[in-house]
Amino acid sequence: MSFKRNIIITGGAGFIGCHVVKLFVDKYPEYHIINLDNLTYAGNLANLRDIENRANYTFIKADICDFDRICKLLPEYRVDGFIHLAAESHVDRSIKDPFTFARTNVMGTLSLLQAAKLYWESLPEGYEGKRFYHISTDEVYGALELTCPEGMSSEFTAHKIYGDDFFKETTKYNPHSPYSASKASSDHFVRAFHDTYKMPTIVTNCSNNYGPYQFPEKLIPLFINNIRQRKPLPVYGKGENVRDWLYVEDHARAIDVIFHNGKIAATYNIGGFNEWKNIDIIKVVIKTVDKLLGNPEGHSLDLITYVTDRKGHDLRYAIDSTNLKKELGWEPSLQFEEGIEKTVKWYLDNQEWMDNVTSGDYQRYYEETYRNK
Ligand code: NAD
Ligand code: DAU
Repeated sequence: MSFKRNIIITGGAGFIGCHVVKLFVDKYPEYHIINLDNLTYAGNLANLRDIENRANYTFIKADICDFDRICKLLPEYRVDGFIHLAAESHVDRSIKDPFTFARTNVMGTLSLLQAAKLYWESLPEGYEGKRFYHISTDEVYGALELTCPEGMSSEFTAHKIYGDDFFKETTKYNPHSPYSASKASSDHFVRAFHDTYKMPTIVTNCSNNYGPYQFPEKLIPLFINNIRQRKPLPVYGKGENVRDWLYVEDHARAIDVIFHNGKIAATYNIGGFNEWKNIDIIKVVIKTVDKLLGNPEGHSLDLITYVTDRKGHDLRYAIDSTNLKKELGWEPSLQFEEGIEKTVKWYLDNQEWMDNVTSGDYQRYYEETYRNK
């Protein structure tokens, strides 16, 4: 079967990746979407059941660090585009095990870049019609001050903001955690491949995503699950840290727009203009779970447990994504109140998904589904 484009999406079995894969498989039947993922603890093929038998979808279990294997796959599938999401993504894990983060995030990205370079440069048309799109994080910019701890109103958003400063595309990199240092390093490699070899690259830096299929080590799914099970909710430090939250499907939409219409060598910041102190978002999550479970208001507030702070915990992230809005017309579509209700409802309605993840059963799915294919 011949396709108009052959695109590798790395990390497509993870949280954001599965939303991007599903969007592209549904919206572009003329594209072949190749999900390349080595199924670490964070990869879950059950996230992709809806589309796993589509004619324009292929799953390949492979490690992005396996340079020889990637080099063989590119001509085999005549790959002309990458949307690169595969990474180790959890800050707390990076504090305990930084080597894994350097291996996957830095060496893995470099392995993809070098394989793409060798393949694309071997073709008569070279880099014409090709694209290497790297998904990164706002954490590379470091941390912003909390100049207004009570929050103030803003012309951009219905929600409060907690300082006068925002991360812009021009903000100097200043990563603090091993995770953000590894992502920063990978971003630099991607840009270096443009500057040195003229590879058509794009980098985007996005704020905190929330929504269905997020691994329950991250704040929102962890807390929803703990509330459901009446387990303590471990709030790091005083719960004063601020994050900018974006619904995951809005991020996937931004990735679609940027992959197709973004400028080569550009960087775009993607954010929700939706700043929340952790303790406030935790209270919203508690209220929503209690409401949907039929508990009286305030029922689960007693689960809040303040614990030792994360080492090097960045105080505030806030993204300025006006550039993306001006240039490509993208903006978040979902109000936070609607997004969080949808998210909580999804986790409560999909307890089997959550139980499979927390029990580890989801890791058998690959063996059962793909072993004999
Ligand atoms: P995730 O941890 O949920 O998923 C990562 C996926 O990558 C998993 O499917 C895993 O199996 C795969 N993977 C890991 N190592 C691999 C390797 N060596 N080879 C092949 N596949 C491998 O991550 P996520 O939250 O979906 O994040 C996706 C990307 O978006 C990451 O690059 C992350 O840095 C970035 N990002 C995430 C957020 C967020 O809030 N989650 C925000 C901004 C940017
Ligand atoms: O900003 C984008 C980043 O957002 C992504 O690049 C990362 O991949 C993603 O994991 C996320 O990083 P955070 O560290 O902000 O997300 P996390 O869900 O781990 O934590 C959100 C905030 O909640 C953070 O300030 C730490 C705090 N927290 C987290 C957990 C898991 C708690 O207070 N208690 C917890 O148990």
